[in-house]
Amino acid sequence: MTAIRRGIGALAPEERPNAGKVINAAVERMEAALAGAIDKLGNAQLEAQLSETIDVTLPGAPARIGSIHPIRRVMRDIGSYFTRLGFAVLQGPEIETDANNFDALNIPADHPAREGLDSFYLRPDLVLRTHTSPMQVRAMRESGPPIAIIVPGKAYRRDAVDARHLYQFHQIEGLMIGTDIHFGHLKGVLTGMMRELFGPQQEVRFRPSFFPFTEPSAEIDTTCPGCAGTGHRAETTCRTCGGSGWIEIGGSGMVHPNVLRTVGYDPERVAGWAFGVGPERLAMVRYEMNDIRDFVENTPSFLEQTS
Ligand code: DAH
Repeated sequence: MTAIRRGIGALAPEERPNAGKVINAAVERMEAALAGAIDKLGNAQLEAQLSETIDVTLPGAPARIGSIHPIRRVMRDIGSYFTRLGFAVLQGPEIETDANNFDALNIPADHPAREGLDSFYLRPDLVLRTHTSPMQVRAMRESGPPIAIIVPGKAYRRDAVDARHLYQFHQIEGLMIGTDIHFGHLKGVLTGMMRELFGPQQEVRFRPSFFPFTEPSAEIDTTCPGCAGTGHRAETTCRTCGGSGWIEIGGSGMVHPNVLRTVGYDPERVAGWAFGVGPERLAMVRYEMNDIRDFVENTPSFLEQTS
């Protein structure tokens, strides 16, 4: 239309007004036709949308929710049991003096656990704690007897990583000191703990052992939850306990008089017991796992199964 309008100049002057009118009328008609067409298309689209069916009852895509890590779950269960018994829950530094980690626990300077092969030294006098036991020393120095504490936390050893070892792992230390405290209390407390975790059939037994900071010392075994202590499952040897019906969960003993003396306690007046158990071990039994590395690989499919 613009090109045609430009052509008006070429017409005789008396023809020009009429030509202008004709062109304007044509433009009006075309614009009206265009508006009508747009209207029609728009209505058709609206019609189509109105007749669309949406099922608002269809479930949405489920959101992935987090879960508590199996190690934390075990530690939380144990913590809740001991707090109900009146124990305090303490946490201590993961960087520890070698004096607390070893000397104060009656571990002599030539003990092989001190070697660089076993421990991560930051300085000759500082080490990533190789166990939670140094918190026994800190707790006893902090307050006098009676003491009833547990210490959940991380420990570090220079172990090569395989299906049963990590260089960073967890322990829960327990310590009870007072007058008239004996091994029987320890067995009762630990039996209660295992029943809390695995049910009322659990028993606990002690096997004589050696730790420098306890005398006497004992390994703690509990009924294998995998086979209810029978040693076999469906005619085959139980994989969890290797057929013995027992699993080892940690170490324990009566606190050594040298340790009591080091923190200024009188071994003639007070006595007590200590234990250390491994949450990884307990979680592996609880969830029937055979590779400790699964705890640190953060695979969602693993974490979902154990939640
Ligand atoms: N600290 C020991 C370890 O890491 C475990 C242990 C044994 C802790 C005996 C104790 C105990 O409190 O009494 O192997």
